[in-house]
Amino acid sequence: MKRSLLKSSLLSVATLFGTMTFSTTYAAEGDAFKGEAFYAVCAGCHGADGMGSEAANAPRLQGQFDWYLVRQIKNYQSGARGVHKDDTYGATMRAMAGTLANEQAILDVVAYIGTLEDK
Ligand code: HEC
Repeated sequence: MKRSLLKSSLLSVATLFGTMTFSTTYAAEGDAFKGEAFYAVCAGCHGADGMGSEAANAPRLQGQFDWYLVRQIKNYQSGARGVHKDDTYGATMRAMAGTLANEQAILDVVAYIGTLEDK
């Protein structure tokens, strides 16, 4: 009895993982050359090298997983992030996420961020 319970819970975990999407190669789908132009606005707060700025409350982007960056940008756009009335910095970033007009623009800028290194 116990054994079959264990087996069925393992099976449901496997099913759950099967339906989840894992790290896809977003950077590969983006055009870093086009993304560089989109990043010009981002550099004002996150830095030309993507190392972030404490003064601007803008976190480091350089070295971050591409799938995480894509998801966070989408979260700002959808309002899952940056909408609480006390979240001033989130609201600022939400407006910036709005400069990326479509999915491809997000992938492009993230591809460019993936090329950033310390300067
Ligand atoms: C005016 C300053 C400013 C500009 C310009 C700006 N950001 Fe931000 N960004 C922020 C701040 C502040 C945060 C932190 C917001 C928060 O606390 O939710 C942030 C957060 C982020 C995050 C979330 C990082 C994490 O670890 O969760 C991403 C991704 C991001 N910015 C990407 C961009 C991109 C791409 C651009 C250009 C299209 C851009 N930002 C332009 C200020 C800016």
